[in-house]
Amino acid sequence: MGLQTKRLTNKFGVEIVGLDLSKPIDDATIADVWKVWNEQGLVLMRGQDISPEAHIAFSRRFGELDKHEALEPFRHPQYDEIFMVSTIPVNGKPSASENVGRHWHSDLSYTQHPAMGSLFHCQVVPDVGGDTLFANTVAAYDSLSGKMKEVIDGLWGVHDYLATPTQKLKSPEVLARLRELHRPIAQPLVLTHPVTGRKALYIAETLITHFVGMTPEESQPLVKFLFNHTIDPLYTYRHKWTKGDFIMWDNRSLIHIALSDFEKGAHRLFFRTTVLGEQRGEYV
Ligand code: SIN
Repeated sequence: MGLQTKRLTNKFGVEIVGLDLSKPIDDATIADVWKVWNEQGLVLMRGQDISPEAHIAFSRRFGELDKHEALEPFRHPQYDEIFMVSTIPVNGKPSASENVGRHWHSDLSYTQHPAMGSLFHCQVVPDVGGDTLFANTVAAYDSLSGKMKEVIDGLWGVHDYLATPTQKLKSPEVLARLRELHRPIAQPLVLTHPVTGRKALYIAETLITHFVGMTPEESQPLVKFLFNHTIDPLYTYRHKWTKGDFIMWDNRSLIHIALSDFEKGAHRLFFRTTVLGEQRGEYV
């Protein structure tokens, strides 16, 4: 029958209308969702009233799911496949994930098994704000000059989980444990999307310390230029969440950030599953 879709921007992203994730979904429909997800980078489905089991089962149709071992403090108490992004205190203590995602990134870029896609279900949203902003790294790559494409082709960026400002707030003991779990890892700066064949910038904010073979001082001006170029409003989509919204994003063609655009103490809760992509990346 085909999917009913509405475009969200002129560069990327669609809303699928009329698909209820709490009902059985046939293989042909899953194949259509897979196609549109890869082509458009972001798929939105509103008003989804689904259990964590249904969320996990739907996500599994697209590949192997991460069990979030390296992000253990953020896991759902009953489901390893669900990563909770929450500002809601637990037993009077701040939530472990209250600052998760507050910098532009592609999920798990700092691992040897980066995420193909993330499927994000809105549970609780502040009265105002709590938006997520997405940027299209394919459009950003396409709009570079031919000469710049030649310069960056073949560069590898070193992604360091501990390089983001929020990590620096953690205690020395926690940082030491995180360093054991997450060693700096080199990833190609230009990715060829395995399904569409399109090239994209594999860029992030503050996470990339340098390019392999170059010093941080030599690398940072280029990292900053490419990052600022990618988050040009021309290539972005900002989502204002409503409870029940379900967004699937492709981490090979988009980066995203959780905005701090809501009042301190406001409750915001999302469940995320993470579909693993192809293995890549080399420890440095
Ligand atoms: C994430 O980076 O997975 C979280 C995004 C968000 O909370 O909006």
